[in-house]
This record gives sequence, structure tokens and C-alpha cells, in this order.
Amino acid sequence: MQRDLDKADWAVGLMQNRQSVRRFKDDPIPEEILYEVLAAGINSATGGNLQPYSIIVERSRVKSQQLSKLCGDQPFIAQAPVNLIFCLDWHKLAVYSRANDAPFTCNKSFRHYTIAMDDLVCAAQTIETAAWLYGIGSCYVGTIIDNIPAAAQMYNLPKLVAPMLLLSLGYPKSLSTPRKKLDYDMVVFNNSYPNLSEQKICEAYDSKYTGMRMTLPSDPQKRQEILAEFRRALLTTYPEAQCDQIIAKAEKAGYIHEIQRRFGLHYHAADMLTPDVLEGLAEQGIYPCYGLMEQ
Ligand SMILES: Cc1cc2nc3c(=O)[nH]c(=O)nc-3n(C[C@H](O)[C@H](O)[C@H](O)COP(=O)(O)O)c2cc1C
Repeated sequence: MQRDLDKADWAVGLMQNRQSVRRFKDDPIPEEILYEVLAAGINSATGGNLQPYSIIVERSRVKSQQLSKLCGDQPFIAQAPVNLIFCLDWHKLAVYSRANDAPFTCNKSFRHYTIAMDDLVCAAQTIETAAWLYGIGSCYVGTIIDNIPAAAQMYNLPKLVAPMLLLSLGYPKSLSTPRKKLDYDMVVFNNSYPNLSEQKICEAYDSKYTGMRMTLPSDPQKRQEILAEFRRALLTTYPEAQCDQIIAKAEKAGYIHEIQRRFGLHYHAADMLTPDVLEGLAEQGIYPCYGLMEQ
């Protein structure tokens, strides 16, 4: 492989400045560029070179609007000239295995599931990066897994195929202020995991989330609704009396902390414990927890 440090510096510099894009121009993505980007993606590493995924390319405005609704009404999906739906796909391998008298248990295996998800994300991320190098912005959407059956119907997915991740693509209309990340030394550890004090961890996240907090609405009804939702999430982790104290404190302050919003309202702690996603996967014949419960 030839070394070209200038080209590498250029590419890596762009990668270090990537960001999610949620505002797209109407300009279409030229088919030949999209092809190159996708071809880079499907050459990504996969466990055992099994390639257990498929990618649906959605260019229709009307269907992208439907996708947007399916994914929790996120408007940028409807505006994106291209949406890619990354599907975990055991269908092709199951057919081929049976045609050749090979055993097949991938759809009932936690290990195969996690490897397949790794594979799918490796491909998605290669595509995200390749697109960015061509000046195309994108944003991942994870909420498609909340509606696996509807998306499966929309795309005529056979059993053993399930949509797991979406990537909206388009030329950026505007870029946002880059999201702050944890400092390098809070993520990359040399040789072994360090003894991180609570203080160091809190300082690192305080710096990441500086100035971010959610002001509670002044409208009493809306305020109560939000606090009730927050309390429902808190109950997953703290005894009732403590939840009441936390709520009272928030009410008095008039805001909640960013990490309280993240796990209390956004990645709602109680909703993250429900089996909806597993049920959606089961409808497609995929059982990542098969056999695990009895053990
Ligand atoms: C698996 C995954 C799912 C995501 N889902 C959504 C989503 O549903 N909606 C959204 O606006 N952004 C989504 N994002 C984008 C993140 O919000 C974004 O990457 C994060 O805030 C960091 O910002 P940056 O990408 O600009 O650095 C997702 C990212 C990943 C990796």
C-alpha cells in the first residue's frame, strides 16, 4: 500500500472535524458518488467475512416522509435526498445454508447478533466517513428499531431481515456548532483502565455539558407533565422518597441538569427497559436472547 501523508492528513483532518448534519440542501447526490460511497461501505470488515446485512437506499420524498414519522417525527429524515436503511440480514445466509445442508442458528444467537451489529455499524460508519470526504453530511437515526414491523412492511423485508439503523444523507445547508466531546485522556487509556475518581469523572462531564440544562416550562400543566415523566424514569434507580426530593429540587430550581434530561426524558430510563425492540426482532424471526433466559 502506497503511503501519501498529505492525502492522509487531509482525510484525517476532515474526519476529526466531522459532525452530524440535520439540515440538507435539495441538491441530489450524484448516483456515481453514492455508488462509490456505498462500495466503500460494503468493503468494511465483517466477522468471518459473513456480511450479515443489507442496505436499502431510499430516494423518494414521500417514503422519506413516512420514514421520518416512523422514526419519531424527525424532520431532517424527510428533507434528506437519500436515506439509507441498514438491515441486519440473516435471510440470504439462511437460504444459502439450507441449500447446502449447512446448519444455521445465527438468528437465535446473542453472539451472532452482536457480531452482526458490529458488522453493520462498521459498514455504516465507513459510509458516513466516505460521504463526509465527498462533502456530504449525514445523521444517524437509531429510533427505527422502535418500529421494526412497520419498516419491515414498508420495504417488503423477508423474515430474518430487520432494520436496525438509518443514515440520512445530503449536502449540508448549514453546519451546527460542533458538539463537545470528552477530552482525549478521558476516553483513551494507555495499557490499563485508570483509577478515575468521582471528581475527575464529574469534572470531565461538567466540561462537556457546560451551559446545558433544561429550563422547565412556566406553564404549570406542561411543567407537571415533564416532572411526572422525569419521576417515572427516576423510579427505575432511586427509592420513592429520594425521587420526590429530586423532583422537589428541580421544581424549586426551575431546571433539570443535562444528564437528568438525557436519562430522564430523552433516553428515558424506564422506556429503555421495555422489550419492544426484542418483540420487533421476534416478528422478523430474530431472537438474540434465545436460550439465554433459562441459563
Ligand atoms: C446509533 C446512533 C443513533 C443516533 N440517533 C439519532 C437520532 O435518532 N436523531 C438524531 O438527531 N441524531 C441521532 N444520532 C446522532 C447523535 O445525536 C450525534 O452523533 C451526537 O449528538 C454527537 O454529535 P456529532 O455527531 O455532531 O458529533 C445518532 C447517532 C448514533 C451513533
